[in-house]
Amino acid sequence: MNDLTNGQAAARRVVLRATNLTKDLPLGAVVVHAVRGVDMDVYEGEMVGIVGPSGSGKSTLLGLIGGLDAPTTGRIEIDGVDVTNMSEGKLTEVRNEKIGFVFQFFNLIPTLTALENVMLPIQFARKPKFNPEKRARELLELLGLGDRMKHRPMELSGGQQQRVAIARALANNPPLLLADEPTGNLDSEASAVVLQALRDVWQETGTTIVLVTHNLELARQMERVLHLVDGRIVREEKGAA
Ligand SMILES: Nc1ncnc2c1ncn2[C@@H]1O[C@H](COP(=O)(O)OP(=O)(O)OP(=O)(O)O)[C@@H](O)[C@H]1O
Ligand SMILES: [Mg+2]
Repeated sequence: MNDLTNGQAAARRVVLRATNLTKDLPLGAVVVHAVRGVDMDVYEGEMVGIVGPSGSGKSTLLGLIGGLDAPTTGRIEIDGVDVTNMSEGKLTEVRNEKIGFVFQFFNLIPTLTALENVMLPIQFARKPKFNPEKRARELLELLGLGDRMKHRPMELSGGQQQRVAIARALANNPPLLLADEPTGNLDSEASAVVLQALRDVWQETGTTIVLVTHNLELARQMERVLHLVDGRIVREEKGAA
């Protein structure tokens, strides 16, 4: 990074590095090799799609990358920090600070308004970087929900709920946003709106995004597409973004 003659390399900072990741899951008497040796680098500001059929290990891989689950072997670095063998307490801190998650089912807190849902991660942060309400309002505006701040999840459409979830994931301004089938529970119209919202976020904030999906068409709207088959990345292609 300090070699000025190597400007290109210096400009491309690795936000996520996975080295020889594997995950074995016990299933009764057998072991499922859900992830079988994944190496991947994701650079700052990239928007990467991981595509593969059902059961190929997408959610398992994303869970490892996001520190929700520990790998069987291998190593994970997030924003330059080796999280592989971190204590649960420290890992929770890193997750809260460095990673935003978006899931297929929006997982919003039903009793809280959109605004309160987005404020929550800031209020939970050990060292909050933002005024919770101000930040939450800005993010909801960015996601096109300026007129829905006081609505509760039940009073919002699926696409709106997912946009609230995206705002919540961005609350602490994490360097990395991970999304697992973010449009998997939406009809095509709402899917398009949510995808556009993600692209707006990407353009506006420069957040690094990793999105997993079984939908090749969706994955190809990212910048770079990694193909996952049977727990291995078998191929990479350039996307449209
Ligand atoms: N808790 C678990 N215990 C045992 N096996 C599991 C467990 N979770 C997932 N698996 C297995 O690991 C493999 C990968 O599952 P994973 O959920 O990561 O796939 P996926 O690509 O996300 O699929 P989908 O597109 O259906 O969400 C599958 O064979 C699955 O059956
Ligand atoms: Mg999955």
